[in-house]
Amino acid sequence: MPSLKVTLRDGKMTEIAAKPGLSVMQNLRNGGIEEILALCGGCCSCATCHVYVDPAWLDRLPAQSEEEDDLLESSSHRRENSRLSCQIPFVAALDGLSVTVAPED
Ligand code: FES
Repeated sequence: MPSLKVTLRDGKMTEIAAKPGLSVMQNLRNGGIEEILALCGGCCSCATCHVYVDPAWLDRLPAQSEEEDDLLESSSHRRENSRLSCQIPFVAALDGLSVTVAPED
């Protein structure tokens, strides 16, 4: 099974199994990463699924939509490598993708 590498807010790193066909957010939730609240359920309206993507992986992700960009703009913790994990479909080619949970807004 493909996996995701996750760094939690306290700096601890963990690896979880990830299923293609689900979003990265859904895989994080299924993997027990409770710091990802995902309050809107993945419809790009809450930003509680904010992660920092390892820069080495950024190019392999689908481009940001305008909605995602706008929502990230409202976060005071936005960085160059910020993404909303609900907007990244997990596919097998992303096996090993490394993300860090962003601080809470
Ligand atoms: S889960 Fe709400 S924006 Fe991603």
